[in-house]
Amino acid sequence: MRGNRGRQKLDRSSLALLLRRLLKHKKAVSLGLVALVIVDVMQLIVPQVFQRAIDSLASGMATRSLLLEMGIAVLALYLIMGIFRFFWRYMVIGSSHRIDRDLRQELYDHLQTLSPQYYDQTKVGDIMAHATNDINAVRMAVGMATIAAFDAIFLSLSTVIIMIAMNWKLTLLSMLPLPVIAFMMLKFGKLIHRRFESVQKAFSTLTEKAQESLSGVRVIKAYGDEESEDTYFSEKAEDCARQNIRLARIWGFFQPLIGALAMTSMAILLGAGGAMVVKGTITLGEFVAFSSYLGMLTWPMMAIGWVVNLWQRGAASMDRLQRILTTAPDISDGPEDGEPVPAVEVRGLDFTYPGTEVQVLRDVSFSLRQGGTLGIVGRTGSGKTTLVELLMRLYDPPEGTVFLGGKDIRRMKLARIRSMFGYVPQETFLFAMSIADNIAFADRDIPREELERLASIVDIDREIRNFPDGYDTMVGERGVTLSGGQKQRVAIARALAVRPDILVLDDALSSVDTETEAAILDRLRQDISKLTSIIIAHRISTIQGADHIAVMDDGRIVESGTHDQLLKNNGFYADLYRMQQLEEEAMKDDASGEKEGGQE
Ligand SMILES: Nc1ncnc2c1ncn2[C@@H]1O[C@H](COP(=O)(O)OP(=O)(O)OP(=O)(O)O)[C@@H](O)[C@H]1O
Ligand SMILES: [Mg+2]
Repeated sequence: MRGNRGRQKLDRSSLALLLRRLLKHKKAVSLGLVALVIVDVMQLIVPQVFQRAIDSLASGMATRSLLLEMGIAVLALYLIMGIFRFFWRYMVIGSSHRIDRDLRQELYDHLQTLSPQYYDQTKVGDIMAHATNDINAVRMAVGMATIAAFDAIFLSLSTVIIMIAMNWKLTLLSMLPLPVIAFMMLKFGKLIHRRFESVQKAFSTLTEKAQESLSGVRVIKAYGDEESEDTYFSEKAEDCARQNIRLARIWGFFQPLIGALAMTSMAILLGAGGAMVVKGTITLGEFVAFSSYLGMLTWPMMAIGWVVNLWQRGAASMDRLQRILTTAPDISDGPEDGEPVPAVEVRGLDFTYPGTEVQVLRDVSFSLRQGGTLGIVGRTGSGKTTLVELLMRLYDPPEGTVFLGGKDIRRMKLARIRSMFGYVPQETFLFAMSIADNIAFADRDIPREELERLASIVDIDREIRNFPDGYDTMVGERGVTLSGGQKQRVAIARALAVRPDILVLDDALSSVDTETEAAILDRLRQDISKLTSIIIAHRISTIQGADHIAVMDDGRIVESGTHDQLLKNNGFYADLYRMQQLEEEAMKDDASGEKEGGQE
């Protein structure tokens, strides 16, 4: 219950936010409203015309030309109504789509500024739901709901005034059931809304499940788990159907009820009004006009519930969106804008991921001169990826721990830091576009020769040329499927394309064979000799040639030095090296054994 009250309070300020969005388009909206008023006035005149026609018929004064005139008048009124109805819909719906577009753009722009930490803690599915459902709800609230509210108030007020002017007693009598309709609408509206939300929730669980199963289809098949997945899915589908039926049931009950109430109004009119006609208190024409006015009142009564509902939903959605839009990017610019030397220094760095308890890095210190190479090895989960992501400020290190060219990175502009780095993350991600566009991701204007040169450095130029469309071959769903090693090499070329000062390879050669790897590393060293690089690897051969090697374990640097020094040290590194040597020998033996025809 407490949550409910909290939401009510938020609703009002969110409603103000909705209105503010609408006011940005006040010109179009007010034009739309003027057109709407014109439509309403025309609608109010029509019964008057009928009243005249019927009265003249009843009194026997009707002539053919008079009736023709009235027929034409009614036609003209409907024509004008049609034109202005189009006009207000065009204006209002147009503005609401413009509000929709602005909101989408704002949301997208803002989401781009948020840090990886935000995405660690937020489900992408939720963000997608905001981008679709919430924005739709806001659009409906500011567009149709606002206009309907205005229409309902204007139309019902003027109708009631006309009715009272015609006959106040009859007005009071026949309007008795109407407040009940409005009340029912409000009550049922809430219930319908709640059921509608359950339907949406069930549906989003269902889609989420489908998405997950389809993306993980390889794993499911490999484990032969199709059947249990299927059962799970059909449970969700069943739930979705059940929620939909619950909603349909209440609709089915509710609509005839409203219809019945509206008919009660008509019945009262028929009884009381009929008697008045017989007594001659009102004319037949007045009776007919009165009944059409009464009919016009049912819609505003029903609209009230609908509008309140749309507004509530819109306000709740606006509130959710506003919460994202006001999430400050937790990683922000520092004041300094100078060009730092690409030398890295880390002093006593401790780090715990925000929102977690376990300390991931402890007292990490090292320095790397410009043009130098740092190799990092260590057990899985020892903090290697965390360390390099801190250097780029993808997460925020504590102040006074990470320095680029002697400057604390917390005081530097983010764009400056990021432009210095070329990063190849551990999990290769290529976009569904051509290979050329993937490499030229950061700068679309890179000439083709340059792309080819970069591809040659990472030893993939020849393979790309063999694809059906060469560099223009699409990657992913609509194109080729690259092998793990091919993806990694394209990703390295993409990192090189930004002409980085510091290249960071996080296990980025793990799927490439040792020989190719050695060739690539050699070429990197020769072609881009000024490049400072940080290379994370599990294979010692990858980092063997580095100027400085740091061995990590459980968040600490436990050993460091050159390859030779570390071997002499006879610690973790030396053990790892010997083990990998043995593995390699064993593999060679296997291979030669096979070649000799398996004589043993
Ligand atoms: N985004 C995150 N939020 C919270 N904890 C994280 C996050 N990323 C990593 N961790 C934790 O930090 C620790 C270090 O992870 P990290 O990815 O840095 O290890 P790693 O040395 O790169 O391992 P690997 O060799 O397997 O890539 C792990 O215990 C991991 O669970
Ligand atoms: Mg890692």
